[in-house]
Amino acid sequence: MTGYVPGEQPRSDGTIKLNTNENPYPPSPRILSSLRKAISPSLRLYPEPLSDTLRSVAASVYGVKPENILAGNGSDEILSILLRCFVGRNDRVAFPVPTYSLYDTLIAIQEGERAAVEFPPDFSIPETLSDQKAALTFLCNPNSPSGTLVSLPDIQRLARSLSGILVVDEAYVDFAESEGASTLPLIRMHPNLVVLRTFSKSFSLAGMRIGLAFASEEIISGMMKVKDSYNLNRLSAMAAAAALRDMPWMIKNVRRIQKSRRVLTVGLQKIGYHVYPSQANFILARKAGQNLKRTYEELKQKQILVRYFDTPELQDCLRITVGTGKEIKSLLHEMRNIDAAIA
Ligand SMILES: Cc1ncc(COP(=O)(O)O)c(C=O)c1O
Repeated sequence: MTGYVPGEQPRSDGTIKLNTNENPYPPSPRILSSLRKAISPSLRLYPEPLSDTLRSVAASVYGVKPENILAGNGSDEILSILLRCFVGRNDRVAFPVPTYSLYDTLIAIQEGERAAVEFPPDFSIPETLSDQKAALTFLCNPNSPSGTLVSLPDIQRLARSLSGILVVDEAYVDFAESEGASTLPLIRMHPNLVVLRTFSKSFSLAGMRIGLAFASEEIISGMMKVKDSYNLNRLSAMAAAAALRDMPWMIKNVRRIQKSRRVLTVGLQKIGYHVYPSQANFILARKAGQNLKRTYEELKQKQILVRYFDTPELQDCLRITVGTGKEIKSLLHEMRNIDAAIA
């Protein structure tokens, strides 16, 4: 099998890093003071096996019970737990493509059967997604790499029509303009729904590796049996709880990113790119029929990293993380120059 290829992590300082959808702003300062308390002397001891403190803080923030929550070492670990729980050899796993490519790798590890269904051009839920007889169906919402969001009623219809599990990967949902974009409140109504969140994007904690799964008590208690006994380390669990106690910090950064997203979108449209309507902290820009590898490489020479996908359907696209206002300005300036030289 081929392994998952993570985005490049440059060693040199000074790179404008817009390739892996990290948050350009720092995490809440309250996290640092809470980490100081956690460091000594308690690192000698194992962490809470079920991350109970974090789960109870998350339960009050998100209006569910702690029994509806599993904490993971990044949402990537939770994806792997889900595959191990629900997918055996030859079980089908359905999802619309293009999407987060880690799903492919995890399916291959389980020897599951990949049932990928093309998104229609507007990135709405493909009509045939519910016909796949899948043990597990993924919906990344907002989707990566398109940044597009599908509506709650459409997701509810999908959840109702599936006999297997529906996993809605909401890594980017905090960046959506509308308040009610998340399917999290729907876990009460749909016993087959699992909603995933991460602290890597809106909470600026990619380096700490923390994710949460929300689902019925039955599903969560099953997932608890499959996870490693101490899957979340002490510092990460502390950091996540502190981040949830400072929601205004996260919301302020999300607002700044939404503003820069508008500037980036308009700037790229002005130089002839089609930009998909993004509700995430990145945008997908397309120049139909033009392979954008050269643009990606020339940006890289200028120490600006964006994401180029070497697959036939996406070669005329670049995925660009929404950085700070200053980073976006530099990117647009270089892209204008590169495009003028290529034309
Ligand atoms: C759609 C999607 N899901 C999950 C993840 C993984 O998040 P985490 O850092 O919590 O493992 C990413 C990371 O880029 C992502 O794009």
